Amino acid sequence: MIEDRDFFVLDNVQGIIDPHLLFGNDKQLYIEIGSGKGEFISQYALMHPEINFLGFEAREKRIRNILKKLSTSTHPNVRLVHILVNSNLASILSPESVQRVFIQYPDPWPKKRHHKRRLIQQDFLNALATIMVPGAEVHISTDDQDYANWIVEEFLKNPYFTSAQDEFIQKIPSLEDHIPSWYEKKQSHKGITPNYMLFKRI
Ligand SMILES: C[S@@+](CC[C@H](N)C(=O)[O-])C[C@H]1O[C@@H](n2cnc3c(N)ncnc32)[C@H](O)[C@@H]1O
Repeated sequence: MIEDRDFFVLDNVQGIIDPHLLFGNDKQLYIEIGSGKGEFISQYALMHPEINFLGFEAREKRIRNILKKLSTSTHPNVRLVHILVNSNLASILSPESVQRVFIQYPDPWPKKRHHKRRLIQQDFLNALATIMVPGAEVHISTDDQDYANWIVEEFLKNPYFTSAQDEFIQKIPSLEDHIPSWYEKKQSHKGITPNYMLFKRI
């Protein structure tokens, strides 16, 4: 288990991560921010061995949950970054190095006084725009209607992004080979429906 943690987890990242050195190849790079218990990254990376994946997760307990779903033999294309993501993303990844971004059920911080803690803010979107290849997609979902509206507003306000859907908020997944995350399953058991959004780096 210790060996697996050493293989998969990057702690205390200082400076730019070089995916070529990390994975030993030049495959495309997809990232997930807030990987939670790892349902999505573990299954999606297995279905797409042609892609490299970096999962960003702030909580150590969640990192340990994700590690239970990964093995070095089946997931050589996955690494986890133990960090609280914000605009620091632009100092962790190189400009125009990421082909796709997944953000599923980011913490909604529903109280007005906590809105400043929401991940989707202009500083974060500017950093995200820097690391993304032009034309790359951001797949994002939330069950919180107020946060969904906020997310659309912030993305459309930002000069580097546009919606890739006619209806900004959809009730069907934006991803063809959609995998319900742990949180999505939990909420749909309670009858709560997700909102799916898809944005494109201009
Ligand atoms: C509501 S859970 C959703 C987890 C997972 N995406 C899912 O759908 O099951 C939010 C997750 O994002 C992590 N998280 C929240 N803010 C983060 C940030 N700024 N950087 C990295 N991880 C974050 C939390 O620790 C938690 O695991």
